[in-house]
Amino acid sequence: MARTTLLAVSTLFTAGALAVGCTRPPAAPPPQPSVSLPDDPHSFSRPREVAVSHLGLDLVVDFGTRTLTGTARLELDRHGEARELVLDTRDLEITGVTRDDGQVASFQLGDEKPFLGRPLTIELAPATKAVTVAYRTSPGAAALQWLEPAQTSGPHPFLFTQSQAALARTWIPLQDTPAVRFTYDAQITVPPELVAVMSAENAQTKSPDGRYRFRMTERVPSYLMALGVGDLEFRPLGDRSGVYAEPAVVEKAAWEFADTEKLIVAAEKLYGPYRWGRYDLLVLPPSFPFGGMENPRLTFATPTILAGDRSLVALVAHELAHSWSGNLVTNATWNDFWLNEGFTTYAERRIMEEVFGRDYADMLAVIGWGDLETGLAELPPEDTHLRLNLAGRDPDDSSSDIPYEKGALFLTHLERAAGRERFDPFLNRYFTEHAFQSMTTDSFLAYLDRELLAPAGLTREGLGIAAWIDGPGLPADAPRPMSAAFARVDAELARWRSGAAAASLETKAWTTHEWVHFLRGLPKDAASPRLTELDSAFGLSERGNKEVLFAWLLAAERAGFAGVQPAVERFLTSLGRRKFLMPLYAELAKTPAGKARALAIYRQARPTYHPVAVASVDGLLGWQN
Ligand code: BES
Ligand code: ZN
Repeated sequence: MARTTLLAVSTLFTAGALAVGCTRPPAAPPPQPSVSLPDDPHSFSRPREVAVSHLGLDLVVDFGTRTLTGTARLELDRHGEARELVLDTRDLEITGVTRDDGQVASFQLGDEKPFLGRPLTIELAPATKAVTVAYRTSPGAAALQWLEPAQTSGPHPFLFTQSQAALARTWIPLQDTPAVRFTYDAQITVPPELVAVMSAENAQTKSPDGRYRFRMTERVPSYLMALGVGDLEFRPLGDRSGVYAEPAVVEKAAWEFADTEKLIVAAEKLYGPYRWGRYDLLVLPPSFPFGGMENPRLTFATPTILAGDRSLVALVAHELAHSWSGNLVTNATWNDFWLNEGFTTYAERRIMEEVFGRDYADMLAVIGWGDLETGLAELPPEDTHLRLNLAGRDPDDSSSDIPYEKGALFLTHLERAAGRERFDPFLNRYFTEHAFQSMTTDSFLAYLDRELLAPAGLTREGLGIAAWIDGPGLPADAPRPMSAAFARVDAELARWRSGAAAASLETKAWTTHEWVHFLRGLPKDAASPRLTELDSAFGLSERGNKEVLFAWLLAAERAGFAGVQPAVERFLTSLGRRKFLMPLYAELAKTPAGKARALAIYRQARPTYHPVAVASVDGLLGWQN
């Protein structure tokens, strides 16, 4: 009897594993589950009436005019009698719309709303199953950054997109809400000396005529639409992973990311099979406004993680983890953003623990705790809830460390309460059972009740869940992380603070993380001669590691140390990663003299930043054109 059961189970398991491991999914994925879609305050679309199920893109990339021109064919799932389709657009010039019966469709562009753009309303015939929109993007499209050769590492221009959160509508007319998922195919035409890559399957070979074809056979939300165009080379990292970058960067990138397959294996062990076929990375020029972006099959990454010692690969673990939390199970609106980022930050650390050990993951968690403390101190209380209310606000301006770090701590709190032996299979099943669906905070909590709390004899009240989700700050029983490695750093920091010479500090074994921790602990009132001594002992202002350099520059500016001013200017004019720009500009802006420096640097750097970073720094510095 026992034997029969075992056999049956293992047969089932094999069949299941084969089905999901297969890289050729069925030709037509099943329709979107008819869960009640939540209202999305950041989209004009009405997907309960008509939902886009497939997108066919055909675009020409023109570096001369800084525009994309072409068509988007939208295939539709119609749920009722609705006679119109409403799409999101922003700064798009619509040149015509046709229906699948070949007839011209009448359309109307509504009034422009700040950061939401304009609704595009298209009249449908009763039998219309698809429409084709002909359009052109504007040179200032917020999702696009067009780089001059001087902003790249070679003699060619570069273009990349950044669609999250609500920017896909600035380069594609679509239902720009994470509650709608669609498959896509694309034909992208670029100057023949350049290569195009997308968040999709591609041929992996250079096209002689500059024409590239892509297809994404799994349903994805609009914010995962991504395109990169540049002088790109590819280096394989493993059987299912590789890296694209400009020729001057690609070898360094391949070395840095050599552990990628190990990370994938660890993630699969925790959360189930990787469902996207390949996992490649694209290393962007330094103006990329984020650390990384989890575009499916092709993570976009900042070159600032190419530290030369593989010490910043937690970012790869993070973007890879989004292949489950985010890309497979997606926040239904940006109010539920913690379902993407909190789960991913938690999973990132579990993956890092699996590959590099507990001590390593502990360091990451303590650094995250520091980010959380900073966020809690700076934000109004209502912005520190896990569930947000972003109606009327730009989701791209409202992101903070809270969904990441408070979200990860909440999951750690659940993990501690239930034990890993229950919590790990719970998360794994959560991803499997909701694969390719969008999720609200409430539906997650209902699943949590049923699948973890009840079987473990736990309750929402007992765990204080309401306070985590809809309350400000951090509950008193939040699991504070500790790091043995950082305790040793703290001891050296205490010695330095009480007067020990910099050269006497025991720093030989320190990696990036110990340095970051040390520098974050430098006192606000550190005297300039002591900072000069520290800088010359450890060459801090000359560090190539951008995390260490950033932590140093920020601490030194905070202490009013003028010696770092040239390095700060070099730093702010050499990269566009928002996480580095914002705290530094904010620190400078605290004094009138610093604000003047900030504005002078920004005047010079602004044209080199991505529109997303420009919008943030404009707001911070009160920049007027
Ligand atoms: N998905 C985010 C980036 C993002 C968030 C873009 C919101 C636009 C709006 C990505 O996964 C991310 O979190 N990146 C982090 C790095 C990570 C290691 C914390 C970043 O860019 O700093
Ligand atoms: Zn993320």
